[in-house]
Amino acid sequence: MKKTVLFILMTLGAYAREIGGQVPLVQMDLSASKGGDLLVSSQMIQNILHYQNWGGLFLNLQVHWFRLLFAIILIGVIVVFAIHYLIIGKKVFNENCPSVLVYPLFQRIIHWIAALSFVLIIPTGLIMMFGKYFGGGEFVRISRYIHSIGTVVFIIAFIPLFYIWVREMIISFKIDTKWVFILGGYLKKKHIKVPAGKFNFGQKTWFWMAILGGFVMIVSGAAMYFQDFNIPILYKLKLDQIDLLRIMAVVHNFVGMAILALFITHLYMSLFAIKGSLKSMLTGYKSVHELKYLNSSYYKKLLTKGFISEDKVEDD
Ligand code: HEM
Repeated sequence: MKKTVLFILMTLGAYAREIGGQVPLVQMDLSASKGGDLLVSSQMIQNILHYQNWGGLFLNLQVHWFRLLFAIILIGVIVVFAIHYLIIGKKVFNENCPSVLVYPLFQRIIHWIAALSFVLIIPTGLIMMFGKYFGGGEFVRISRYIHSIGTVVFIIAFIPLFYIWVREMIISFKIDTKWVFILGGYLKKKHIKVPAGKFNFGQKTWFWMAILGGFVMIVSGAAMYFQDFNIPILYKLKLDQIDLLRIMAVVHNFVGMAILALFITHLYMSLFAIKGSLKSMLTGYKSVHELKYLNSSYYKKLLTKGFISEDKVEDD
């Protein structure tokens, strides 16, 4: 908790200092008297000697693979969905029939705070990754600050986001495996009744990636941000600080790739694949016609509970 408060204060402080045109973020104290500064001390010799631990792998991934893999994911996922949109197109449901409140106001507020955080985090993360093609310097440095501010916004949304949806995001083997076999009916133009609760398996995958992957990104990101910390258990694990930073960077990049792929998928599904989806996260309401087809198990539940009556929705 103390570190998080420190993190927020330092981010805002550094940002104010940067606006004020003062010194950059991490002030390296090279004076020999500063004990415990493991990055800039005699430890550096050890770090170099330990290079073969994670140094080689890290450098190889950093120099040859990370940018390439991010580029492949970014372009690859967008091209796949562009082809899907051209061949299958948008799913359109009858919006003149009754609708049901699926996203109450609090859920929508938390969702859009999370959305804002990713709008800050994802592009700036990519700018840092492809920094050299943006000429490096100021633009990339400011992106780094925006990236950390986006992280603060995500931390605010993180726990409520988990709390509001975790119960409905539990994987149900019986229903979700059926969904996977038909890929949610998204390879068909014709509407079919898809086995799904309030959230389908695809949405659950995105939720757990955003929550669990998001947590790993916060921790690995904070490690790379603070860089200089003294964690005694590291030495029990025969790891020194530079090793931990290298491991954190590798983890941050690979989990970042998975989140990027699923975030683009989320944007495609919510903005292009289903007409009325964005409206549902703005108004909270979804047409029962859509629920009847895309969330058929949830629809049956609403029927048995009497929230809706069958005669109001014609079959396609
Ligand atoms: C600009 C970015 C975003 C947009 C435009 C967006 C849009 C939407 C829309 C329209 C829905 C309703 C989908 C439906 O039920 O048909 C939705 C649901 C959801 N959103 Fe987002 N969202 C964004 C970012 C995020 C972020 C960053 C997270 C998590 C960190 C997130 C997590 C979720 C979850 C868990 C759901 C419910 C399940 C699902 O539909 O995937 N969203 N979003």
